Amino acid sequence: MRDVKALIAQMTLEEKAGMCSGKDFWRLKSVPRLGIPEVMVSDGPHGLRKQDEKGDHLGINDSIKAVCFPTASATAASFDRELLHRLGDALGQECQAENVSVLLGPAINIKRSPLCGRNFEYFSEDPYLAGELSAAQIQGVQQHHVGTSVKHFAANNQEYMRLTCSSNMDERTLREIYLSAFEIAVKKAKPYTMMCSYNRINGEYASENEFLLNNILREEWGFDGYVMSDWGAVNDRVKGLKAGLELEMPGCGGCTDEEIVQAVKNGSLEESVLDRAVERILNIVFRFADNREEQTFDREQHHHLAVELEKECAVLLKNDGILPLSRQSKIAYIGGFAQTPRFQGGGSSHINSTKAPGALEISQSKGEVSFALGFPHDKDEADSNLFQQAVQTAAQADIAVVFAGLPDSFESEGYDRSHMEIPQCQNQLIEEILKVQLNVVVVLHNGSPIELPWADKVKGILEMYLGGQGVGEATDALLFGEANPSGHLPETFPLKLEDNPSFLNFPGDGTNVTYAEGVFVGYRYYEKKKMPVRFPFGHGLSYTTFAYSDLTLSQSSMKDADSVTVSVTVTNTGTRAGKAVVQLYIKDTTNATNRPEKELKGFEKVLLQPGESKVVSMELNSRSLSWYNESLGDWYAASGTYEILIGQSSQDIYLTGKLEFETEKELPFTITMNTTMAQLLAHPKLVQAAKEFAKDFSPTGNDNESDAAASAITAEMAQQMFLASPLRGLRSFSGVPTQKLLDKIEEFNQLLQK
Ligand code: BGC
Repeated sequence: MRDVKALIAQMTLEEKAGMCSGKDFWRLKSVPRLGIPEVMVSDGPHGLRKQDEKGDHLGINDSIKAVCFPTASATAASFDRELLHRLGDALGQECQAENVSVLLGPAINIKRSPLCGRNFEYFSEDPYLAGELSAAQIQGVQQHHVGTSVKHFAANNQEYMRLTCSSNMDERTLREIYLSAFEIAVKKAKPYTMMCSYNRINGEYASENEFLLNNILREEWGFDGYVMSDWGAVNDRVKGLKAGLELEMPGCGGCTDEEIVQAVKNGSLEESVLDRAVERILNIVFRFADNREEQTFDREQHHHLAVELEKECAVLLKNDGILPLSRQSKIAYIGGFAQTPRFQGGGSSHINSTKAPGALEISQSKGEVSFALGFPHDKDEADSNLFQQAVQTAAQADIAVVFAGLPDSFESEGYDRSHMEIPQCQNQLIEEILKVQLNVVVVLHNGSPIELPWADKVKGILEMYLGGQGVGEATDALLFGEANPSGHLPETFPLKLEDNPSFLNFPGDGTNVTYAEGVFVGYRYYEKKKMPVRFPFGHGLSYTTFAYSDLTLSQSSMKDADSVTVSVTVTNTGTRAGKAVVQLYIKDTTNATNRPEKELKGFEKVLLQPGESKVVSMELNSRSLSWYNESLGDWYAASGTYEILIGQSSQDIYLTGKLEFETEKELPFTITMNTTMAQLLAHPKLVQAAKEFAKDFSPTGNDNESDAAASAITAEMAQQMFLASPLRGLRSFSGVPTQKLLDKIEEFNQLLQK
């Protein structure tokens, strides 16, 4: 074990301040006289973007050749922790081989709007899914003693004005939706580092946010690594250091190091705060430097891994029996993406990939497939000659497969989309082809939901997302049934952009963005509003079918500290081997607060041979049932009944069970003159006494009143007014003397203490 504290004791003030910012774009500083090595960090998250010279964070300058694995848009659709672990394992090996100490990822911000330009790098609209999958990826990387940097902490859900805009929301929304994925990642996988985001949260920059960095991340969640800034996210360096931002990236030539030195000298920064930051950084530097592996990796092998992973990620959205295809049929491929697949997004995650063969090349190497370009892969440009050839090619085939999607310029880091459409030339050509060909399949390359106006007319839709450099091979294998699709949507595809819950408040005015939809993000909103969607969260088809039976709970009731195992039998009822994704949702029936219809709290992916059955088990605890109660300042689930729903999408629920929950947590409650009768009557400790008290005042029907009076103030109205009345109202409406009320309040408060 290194004695890092002893090292720090030998460092000068300037050396210590210097450790808190980068040497350049990608390197931390060394202190050779003390044996502190220089280490490097690199993007991330789905491949290595190691830049040697002229670093930049926007993917403009070339980086070393590397394998581009499927982006998070795709890997999230795998619903498979094991797959993310394999991806992390490969990335960890590559980092060791390339001498990279920290991989800048995974990126786990919630997909609040389909328009966010970086959605392709993010996992999901659901925090549980994003948290669980990212934890597996982190564990995979870090088993090689290479760090991860979980980003962008926090509430960075758009690109528009991302460097300054404030994401404003109540604490319940922040905790339940925007922090939960980070919380799961930190608690389960102990990332070596975190990357704070550029934006402000409720007015305070993430890079100097004491509440997020010190209170929540370290004190509550137990994070023990270091926090680095997103590239250029530092506002006030000294304030940031105090709040828990250890490393500024990239370095700014020493200007902020000097600010730290001055702050220590003039007494506005305690040196112990600086020492603590340096200790946290050095602990991680040595965790890598002292555990170097003799790694080499085979790029070809990792390319195959990229193919294998993508096969498990693609989502079969629709299949009217047309897929899988037969190599004996006359198949036509149409569209630029068949030749030049779009497999990653623009910006800091952009990989200089080793190769990316298109599905056309692969399929033509295995059989006969005709081709027409139809439209280019990189712009919205309708060309009547290209259209004509494409329509003709489609008409002459048994089946036309159109490769559609978003060109590079439509979605990227740095800006958001302004609409959810694919290029009009693509929509037009699909409609034209449908006039001459009944058998149309559409393959999609996009990093975020898109509007699919022709969805009801085509017979099959295969969503490849931005699937990494193996996407062409994976597409071929899936289309022809050499692989069985098993991906499920990690986000809802709404019918149109205007349906999205953030629509009225995205992306804000450039200074502020209000998360007015609160916790009702994605399916939490569409379900509550009973809105039809194009494809629901969790949806994904297979070439086989599954049946679900025998839902059992290890116990039917649960207390705060208990956990319950939910088991279910899944059977492959079809004729091909395939993977089912068992999804467990919880529905709160207690009415304690306004909650989503259901929330994902468990999932497992399982491989089944035809006819085979397996029992799948998932654990629940009180947190699985809880919401964040701001008055309690803690997670809370009311006593009562919770439904356990098992299905293969948020809309296809096959089994339902019940779990009784009993909590000892009490919500803070003090009775005052402004406490309402309804509040008193709803409290389990007060209900009896309140009923007794209410007897004298609660409205009863009055036979003597005229018909007119009775219809002006119905018994229901009188009752509702009584319930909504604060205690002080009894003075005005029932003539109760103030002192009597004060005595009653005292008595009720005493009952609460019992
Ligand atoms: C991005 C980060 C990235 C960093 C370094 C920033 O612009 O937001 O995700 O890791 O650049 O390239």
